[in-house]
Amino acid sequence: MEQSFIPQKIEIFKESGQVTWQTPSNIALVKYWGKREPQLPENTSISFTLSNCCTTTTLQYKKRENKQDGFDFDVIFEGKKNEAFKPKIETFFKRIEVYVPFLKDYYFTIESSNSFPHSSGIASSASGMSAIAMCLMSLEKELTPDLTEEFFYQKASFLARLGSGSACRSVKGEMVVWGEHPEIKGSSDLYGVEFLDEVAPVFKNYQDTILLVDKGEKQVSSTVGHGLMHGHPFATQRFAQAQENISSIKNIFTTGEIDAFITLVESEALTLHAMMMTSQPYFILMKPNTLEVINKVWKYRKDTDSKLCFTLDAGANVHLLYPEAEKETVQQFISKELAVFCKNGEFIHDQVGMGAKMLVDKP
Ligand code: PMV
Repeated sequence: MEQSFIPQKIEIFKESGQVTWQTPSNIALVKYWGKREPQLPENTSISFTLSNCCTTTTLQYKKRENKQDGFDFDVIFEGKKNEAFKPKIETFFKRIEVYVPFLKDYYFTIESSNSFPHSSGIASSASGMSAIAMCLMSLEKELTPDLTEEFFYQKASFLARLGSGSACRSVKGEMVVWGEHPEIKGSSDLYGVEFLDEVAPVFKNYQDTILLVDKGEKQVSSTVGHGLMHGHPFATQRFAQAQENISSIKNIFTTGEIDAFITLVESEALTLHAMMMTSQPYFILMKPNTLEVINKVWKYRKDTDSKLCFTLDAGANVHLLYPEAEKETVQQFISKELAVFCKNGEFIHDQVGMGAKMLVDKP
């Protein structure tokens, strides 16, 4: 199957050019935690694609005079040359070289910026890696113009996955499934697929406010975190549970059972953290304010008819999920009662979006 992503023949010669893509972050509802080589998930995951939290990347490419062995590229992040990101991109290039054989034919400038504040604790690898993958696919399309749209997006997700697993869910569609599952048509461990089932109106334009409880570097890198699932005493049960949760959430989306959605999503978040708390070595990535927020959310739900719920990434920040119909009331509640638990009172309102967008450069 991977073989189909190796280009057969590249006939067109392109001296230089540039392309810009804007790609979003995503938030998993059923979490991916645990992987095997080469960046394949141990269980199926599903996410909402976000809209406002995104990375914009311009890839400039120029044919090299002498094709030397190594890759040749520079990274500019938020307007400044950045050496720190280069090793991660070098590793990414090595992993995808067989599928993108023209990588060494060009000198690249990769110029990126994020819509969210740097070091906000928001995972930027999903949006960052998918943006580079989209740009490379645009270049591949220049060189082999007869690529179908389906192949374009599938391979973009495939490449993004090799940069950062969850990045494969940041390419196309409002909800994306990654990992083979018998009940999701076309699902694959190799790339994300759009969740195309009928979705009840309550889940349309779902809102996500990200509370920045703790900013700064991640305490545990995701590579280390995924690694801790090897030999984890509860790994087998966890992976089986995630597969069952995919079946349940698929049903929930169709029927619109929002209470079941809340239970499933919060349980997934706490299970992710429970896995980290029970691995060797163990970690607590929640902060006291994470728990303050969770308790406030639970009380708010008890006191009102609200369907507000939370989910977590591998960190202390809280994603608050709620239906569009509650936008005004929940956002008031956040400003009044939850902003105090955020670093510098910062939070970001976001909602479900469509996926990557190509930006046309101004003449
Ligand atoms: O894509 P990675 O390797 O950074 O892993 C992301 C893992 C979680 O964000 C915790 C869960 C998920 O499915 O996105």
